[in-house]
Amino acid sequence: MPDSQTGPKHVAIIMDGNGRWAQTRGKPRLFGHHAGAKRVKEIVRACPDVGVKYLTIFAFSTENWKRTQTEVSGLMSLFRRYITGEMKDLIAEGVRVRFIGDRPRLDAKLIKLMDSLEDATSENDKVHLTIALNYGGRDEVARAVKEMARDAAAGRLDAETVDETTLAGYLDTRVLPDPDLVIRTSGEARISNFLLWQSAYSEYEFIDTLWPDFTKDVFADCVARYGVRDRRFGGVKA
Ligand code: IPE
Ligand code: IPE
Ligand code: MG
Repeated sequence: MPDSQTGPKHVAIIMDGNGRWAQTRGKPRLFGHHAGAKRVKEIVRACPDVGVKYLTIFAFSTENWKRTQTEVSGLMSLFRRYITGEMKDLIAEGVRVRFIGDRPRLDAKLIKLMDSLEDATSENDKVHLTIALNYGGRDEVARAVKEMARDAAAGRLDAETVDETTLAGYLDTRVLPDPDLVIRTSGEARISNFLLWQSAYSEYEFIDTLWPDFTKDVFADCVARYGVRDRRFGGVKA
């Protein structure tokens, strides 16, 4: 197990490969999404064992609306079911849940469930689970800049004082540390608009495993490999 000094405190995961996992079994894509949701439970539960305090997962991107209506509505109903079904255990297990992304575009029933899960877990501190839902890194920066422009116009923000910290304070992730490690499953080596600002100095792991096959042992291996990396942040090794 990594110690708290060298292990990643914040791991972010691009959970990819559900569709291909289902296709190889001759099943519809939604079958893969349901299998993927089960893995989410397992990985959230494994966080304390591997020393991960913050887990951020990419559940639905601002680009995923391009999928068929069947898949999109199936995913939305899966999110509602996940929140309703997991609420009790998440509260009991000390998980604090937050959502990032453009919330108003989602349906009212889902927004209500998201708000209630955030409220119900707001006192928890064991694991901080952030679910990126209708999230896009560029969209997040654009919304932040819009809010900054509003504040500047209203005299609440002095443009001359704006720096990196100011912008970070307008992002959805403002209360979270930057991810130390970003994992993408399914063999694709791209970011797909995930945490663009926040992952400037993150380590990346691109692994072939499809998300529904991502067990807590695979997770533990990724965390262990992170422990031997040498992060320099632009400096030189001491
Ligand atoms: C990731 O799996 C889950 C979401 C994007 C919602 P995919 O659905 O992208 O699975 P593949 O990449 O098509 O296999
Ligand atoms: C990224 O996966 C988004 C999520 C995991 C929610 P995609 O499957 O949507 O990304 P692309 O299309 O391969 O870039
Ligand atoms: Mg995919």
